[in-house]
Parts: sequence; C-alpha cells; structure tokens
Amino acid sequence: MKILILPDRDAAVASCVALIADALTDKPDAVLGLATGGTMEPVYAGLLDRTRAGQVSLDRMTSFNLDEYVGLSPEHPQSYHAFMQERLFAPLKLEPARTHLPRGDAPDPVAEAARYDAAITHAGGIDLQLLGIGRNGHIGFNEPSSSLASPTRVKTLTRATREANARFFGPDEAVPRFAITMGIATILRSRHAVLLATGAAKAEAVAAMAEGPLSARCPASALQMHPKVTVVLDTEAAAGLELRQYYETVHPQGQEVTLV
Ligand code: GLP
Repeated sequence: MKILILPDRDAAVASCVALIADALTDKPDAVLGLATGGTMEPVYAGLLDRTRAGQVSLDRMTSFNLDEYVGLSPEHPQSYHAFMQERLFAPLKLEPARTHLPRGDAPDPVAEAARYDAAITHAGGIDLQLLGIGRNGHIGFNEPSSSLASPTRVKTLTRATREANARFFGPDEAVPRFAITMGIATILRSRHAVLLATGAAKAEAVAAMAEGPLSARCPASALQMHPKVTVVLDTEAAAGLELRQYYETVHPQGQEVTLV
C-alpha cells in the first residue's frame, strides 16, 4: 500500500483528483470505477474544474460505479444514479452509454448484480477504482463479515451504515435496507485502487484497513492483498496509524519521491 498523508482535506482531495487526471491522460479511454458519498463530492467538483480548464477530458472514459440502493430508480433523488448525474455526468454531458451503475429497481436484483459483474469484465476490467471507506471499514457496500472473495451481489446494510447515510435522506424517508455492490473480489481485480479518506471519523477504519489483520471484520483490509493501492489521507484520517512516521518519511507531505 502506498500511503500518502496530506496536510488537510483540500490537499488530499487535490492529490486524488490528480491521480484520476493522470490516469486519463495516460489512457483517455480508461475504465474508471467510481464511488459516491460525501468524501467524493469535492473530488467530482475538482474533476469538473480541471475539465473546464481543459486539463483533462472524461469524454472517452467508461465508468462503473461501486453500488446502488435496491429499490431506488435512477430518477430517485437519493439514488446513487442521481448523485452521479448531478455531480459529474450531467455537468460534463457524458454519453449515458458510457456511465454504468447497477439498476436498483431491477425486477431481479440478484440477476442484476451478476449482469453488472459480467459487464465490468466485458469492458476489459477497471483501470482505476476510486474508493471511500465507511466508518465500519466497508468499501462499496461490503459490510463487515463480507466474503473477501465476493463478486458483485446484493448485501444487507448494517444499522450503522443506514444511520450514517440517513443524512442524505429526508426525515420521513427510510434508508433502503439492501444494496447491490461490487464485491471485494471485483474491487481487487481493478488494476489500481485509490482510496480517499478525510476527517477524524475515518481514522479508526483507516488504521484497521492498513495496519490491522486481514479480516472480514474490516472489509477494506482486503486491499492489503491488492497489488497496487494508493491510500490518500488528510492528517485527521491518518491519526490512528502506528507507522505514520514511516509513511511520512517515504512520501513527505504525501509527495512522490524519486528512488535515486
Ligand atoms: C457509502 C458508500 C461508500 C462510501 C461510504 C462513506 O456507504 N457506499 O462507497 O465510501 O458510504 O461515505 P462518506 O464519504 O459519505 O463518509
């Protein structure tokens, strides 16, 4: 794991945006794995800024989002379809055929999950998978106890996750109980995984992911088995790392250093 610790949230977000932009510069038709959640909002805003400044184009990329709530149609305002539409796809006028999310309103969610996994494979696999992390260590919606060999499938959400995500829903709206999520095995197949975590609320999960045992108790710890992971943190999210000094020596201020 390459662990980059940036001085604050804005710097961490900028570093994450730069990684995505660099991947698109190297390969304009890259397949991106995209994530939702509050952490990603400034990332998409940063990508929009870079696009408008002519520094990067998303026109030729293909994307697959990590997950979607079961039961929500793409038009539902709290669906992840709507989240992506509002923050990235519509402002950039991206071709709908290039942007994929699981259909939460599919009549057979189990079949939809299998179809989605196959579609990722058919597209050639994911070049860069963007990830956030839940406070309980989930990635996508792979809750604690998820099989570390899981494909895309339907998962039951924990109460903690439903409570954490309730802020995106109205006071009278229930957070869905199920989601379709890329599995841990699906995520591990990506060629590069970039996980962004900011803020003190993520410190414990980040420490368990990077330095804890490989365990389904913390599904993100499966990333220890990924051959190419970049973890981008602000100092608050890095606060629980025992080997922090080492990471800061290897990558001072979260910067890459040359090897000679
Ligand atoms: C959701 C998403 C995850 C995301 C996590 C953290 O449950 N399924 O992909 O990483 O929440 O979200 P936030 O960035 O809002 O803390």
